Amino acid sequence: MTGILQLLLLVSVTMASEPSCPACSKYDYEEKVLERMIRMEFAFEKELKDNKAVSETVEEDLTRIKEENERLHATVDALKDQQEQAERRLVSLMEEVERNQSSTLEKIVSDSNTTLEQTIAAFNDMKDQIATPLVYFNAHFPQTTSLSTGEVIVYKTVETNHGNGYSATTGKFTAPERGLYLFFMHTCTSSTKYSYLQIVKDGSVLIRSVQYEKESFSCSSSQVFVQLDVGETVWVQCSSGSSNRQLNENSSYRWTSFGGALIHN
Ligand SMILES: *[C@@H]1O[C@H](CO)[C@@H](O)[C@H](O)[C@H]1NC(C)=O
Ligand SMILES: *[C@@H]1O[C@H](CO)[C@@H](O)[C@H](O)[C@H]1NC(C)=O
Ligand SMILES: *[C@@H]1O[C@H](CO)[C@@H](O)[C@H](O)[C@H]1NC(C)=O
Repeated sequence: MTGILQLLLLVSVTMASEPSCPACSKYDYEEKVLERMIRMEFAFEKELKDNKAVSETVEEDLTRIKEENERLHATVDALKDQQEQAERRLVSLMEEVERNQSSTLEKIVSDSNTTLEQTIAAFNDMKDQIATPLVYFNAHFPQTTSLSTGEVIVYKTVETNHGNGYSATTGKFTAPERGLYLFFMHTCTSSTKYSYLQIVKDGSVLIRSVQYEKESFSCSSSQVFVQLDVGETVWVQCSSGSSNRQLNENSSYRWTSFGGALIHN
């Protein structure tokens, strides 16, 4: 465009400067005009060439800018993708943290529950160990016939037998629990009759008694502590037998009896 304007300017300047000098021939003049026109054409062509070069450069620049723009767009898109991915990761991480927190809490609760239950179980065990189990018995009504040496006194009427240690068949007590026991025998005789009795543990004498009254009934009581293991046996037996060794009993008065209890384990 500027090239065309310059050309018009050149033409008009040329027209305006037509010589009026008489020395110059018409041919001369036309020759000069032609020369100028040729120069102008050259200049014009150069201008056109320059213009083309400029426009090519501009086009190249435009293409570069376009490409640059596309690259920028691609970069922006990639950044956007990355941001979205990061956001998604953050959200899932937060959800995981939440899940972990609640599962940690559940674990703490269940661990406490387990600990509590174990403590309760241990406490109950301890309680069982500390507490003395209930073991005691009391029986009366033995044989009232003459006794022989070593004869076991069988107290046939059982009043109490907690823990089932006493047998009314054998007259013997078998320890169902280990521990310290207290045994007693309460023995009555009619006048002129003797009682020679002893409490034994598996045959070893723990305590012995003898009693006799010439004029009337009489009674005596003996007690003994003994440590027993489970299964050890205690009973009452006659330590010296004879026809005048007889016990006295009356079911309504409950004279002669044998009993015991676990007092400490
Ligand atoms: C969630 O717990 C799992 C298993 O204990 C662990 O591997 C993971 O790192 C935890 N996640 C977070 C975010 O704390
Ligand atoms: C422990 O959990 C069990 C089962 O959920 C429940 O039955 C029990 O009562 C809990 N124990 C304690 C001591 O809370
Ligand atoms: C028991 O004692 C009562 C009252 O003294 C008497 O009547 C009874 O005969 C006695 N029974 C025995 C078996 O000794």
